[in-house]
Amino acid sequence: AQFWLRGKQPDQPVCFDVAAGVWNVYGFPETLAVLSDPKKFSSDTARVVPEQFHLLADGNLGELDPPRHTKLRKLVSHTFTPKVVAGLEPRIAALTHELLDAVAGRPRIELVADLAYPLPVTVIADLLGVPASDRHLFKESVDKMVGSSGQFSLVHHSEEQDSALRTTKEQIENIAGYLRDHVAHRRQRPRTDLLTQLVEAEVDGERLSDAEVVNFAIILLFAGHITTTMLLGNTVLCLDAHPEQFAKARADRSIVPAVVEESLRLFSPFAVISRVTTADVLLGEQHLPADQLVRLWLAAANRDPRQFADPNSFDPTRDPNPHLGFGRGIHFCLGAPLARLEGRVVLNILFDRFAHLRSDPDDPPRFIPAPSLTGVSKFPLLTS
Ligand code: HEM
Repeated sequence: AQFWLRGKQPDQPVCFDVAAGVWNVYGFPETLAVLSDPKKFSSDTARVVPEQFHLLADGNLGELDPPRHTKLRKLVSHTFTPKVVAGLEPRIAALTHELLDAVAGRPRIELVADLAYPLPVTVIADLLGVPASDRHLFKESVDKMVGSSGQFSLVHHSEEQDSALRTTKEQIENIAGYLRDHVAHRRQRPRTDLLTQLVEAEVDGERLSDAEVVNFAIILLFAGHITTTMLLGNTVLCLDAHPEQFAKARADRSIVPAVVEESLRLFSPFAVISRVTTADVLLGEQHLPADQLVRLWLAAANRDPRQFADPNSFDPTRDPNPHLGFGRGIHFCLGAPLARLEGRVVLNILFDRFAHLRSDPDDPPRFIPAPSLTGVSKFPLLTS
């Protein structure tokens, strides 16, 4: 399924997958057309996806359409602002140093376990105001979900798919139960954390319900760490494959943000997102009827040769680099400033602390098996 990792672009930018009963979109302009038209391409996948696939109801920004989406996004953007994110820089730097101090002097480190996993989850847990010491609870849940997410089909029900869904639901319920206690607590005793701000946020006289706060916090915990873990791993993967770029960016730190953007293009952590047609539409050269599930393969669109010259090569000098790694339009990733900040801070500190970092030929990196996610799950690195 991860054909773009092998540098192969599909022949058709839009095609129907008969076995799965869904439309796949691989082309850049076609993906952009879908993301720019939320009226014809709804995010409310519950319209066509059977009940059992529906994992979070209230507060799931990513599955709402205007006008509800506009309102909820306004409410949460109120608390999760670029200013709040920018203020996290010293904490992110201190945490990165703390994690690297713990493995200082070792001839090899494991990038994911030692740094790329614990850093983002600690940052987001801190921000929400849940104890970082509970992070093993999220890790267990997320590991089980990622391990269970395999191929997806609307047409053929398999025991494997049903059991993956059951596992995911159980894990979401675990985290929800945990967060419900925290939310109830904040209603009685407000603090200065994001959970309290979400509980208290008000736009046009409306507030979030408990269920909306809990579900939004789940999205932040999930989106806020696994994707950034993948971003950090993928960026080091790109630099490992291009030692000359490692040396170049280490010598000129102004290049670091461009390195992060190019990593997001070449290895897009969220490989695929979904929409549903609300009317008959023409996309590319295909006629799509109403009520069709459309999967947008961002990872493939980001390698469309019609948009990106020499799309399979890692080239941080691309300017502009209009990749779709964070999506586009009204659902553009709310956490993009945080992910970019973590990428920049971590890379700078790795450059400060290590003159060389390279993969171990005897112990190569391993990838997350789910086709919907692009990232390493294990990445041993030699430090000298
Ligand atoms: C939305 C990717 C990090 C929170 C999205 C979307 C993408 C994406 C592709 C659009 C989904 C759609 O249009 O259906 C990524 C990647 C990340 C990242 C690649 C890291 C490298 C984060 C972080 C957070 C976050 C750190 C929060 C702490 C969200 C939220 C939405 C979203 C809340 C929904 C926005 C909406 O529907 O209005 N993300 N994300 N993401 N992301 Fe991220």
